[in-house]
Amino acid sequence: MAFTPHTILITGGGTGIGLGLAEALQKRGVKVIIGGRRKDVLEKVCAANPGMEYVILDVASPDSITKTRDELLAKHPEIDAVMNNAGVQRPFDFAAEKPVELGFADNEIDINIRGLFNMCAAWLPHLKTKEAAYIINVSSGLAFVPLARVPSYCATKAAVHSFTVSLREQLRGSPVRIIECEPPAVQTELHDYMGAERGRAVGIPLAEFVSETMESFDAGTDDFAVAQAKNLAAVVDSERFAKTLEMLNAMHL
Ligand SMILES: NC(=O)c1ccc[n+]([C@@H]2O[C@H](COP(=O)([O-])OP(=O)(O)OC[C@H]3O[C@@H](n4cnc5c(N)ncnc54)[C@H](OP(=O)(O)O)[C@@H]3O)[C@@H](O)[C@H]2O)c1
Repeated sequence: MAFTPHTILITGGGTGIGLGLAEALQKRGVKVIIGGRRKDVLEKVCAANPGMEYVILDVASPDSITKTRDELLAKHPEIDAVMNNAGVQRPFDFAAEKPVELGFADNEIDINIRGLFNMCAAWLPHLKTKEAAYIINVSSGLAFVPLARVPSYCATKAAVHSFTVSLREQLRGSPVRIIECEPPAVQTELHDYMGAERGRAVGIPLAEFVSETMESFDAGTDDFAVAQAKNLAAVVDSERFAKTLEMLNAMHL
């Protein structure tokens, strides 16, 4: 089934992957609302893309999620798609002599996992009222094979992948289609902790990522890895996984 949303909310839509997809979808006539914490960033993007709107949203805060949902639904009851794209990443070195200070891992958990779960829970009751609706969760190729340098980040993305599979199973037969996009390394702000110049050189150009992702949307794929992330996702025997998933869930435990 093709991906044809009318109005989409994209978390983390002010930069990187979210912004690239926001602009590509708007060019196709989709009404796009971007969400994030930095007003100046969101304002600038909307000024450069007339018709695009923004909402200040911190997905780590359940209150912010419900408040923005209520505000958006009062203004845009036609919203039929939510893309959970906001995410953060940091390295942690457990082999270092200094004890690991795990503070930022809490942010990774709060934003990448709890934020995404809470967004799904908050928006599903509305999305289920539509004839057709979409949740798009952005995980990572690192959900399948971890990059040890960013151990907690990879664990969060594995959680997003597992959660998304379950969500799709539960919502089979409902109007809400659950899509997962698994990016490879892409040149965005995600790796700015390395220093902006070095960090933004990591991965494939954003335009390349956006173009292949839009093709997967057009192909109607529910679960797709992009570019080099295909090599990581391919470690899972997809046929065996699908059969085992069906068998396990037929047991009605
Ligand atoms: N780039 C890659 O190599 C790569 C690879 C695989 C997967 N991904 C995934 O792709 C997604 C987008 O990342 P990106 O690469 O485009 O990085 P990015 O440019 O840093 O974008 C992340 C976006 O998330 C927003 N964000 C962060 N925390 C938030 C919060 N608490 N509430 C709302 N918005 C928040 C940021 O805006 P504010 O700071 O203004 O809130 C920012 O716009 C992430 O989930 C990332 O894990 C990226």
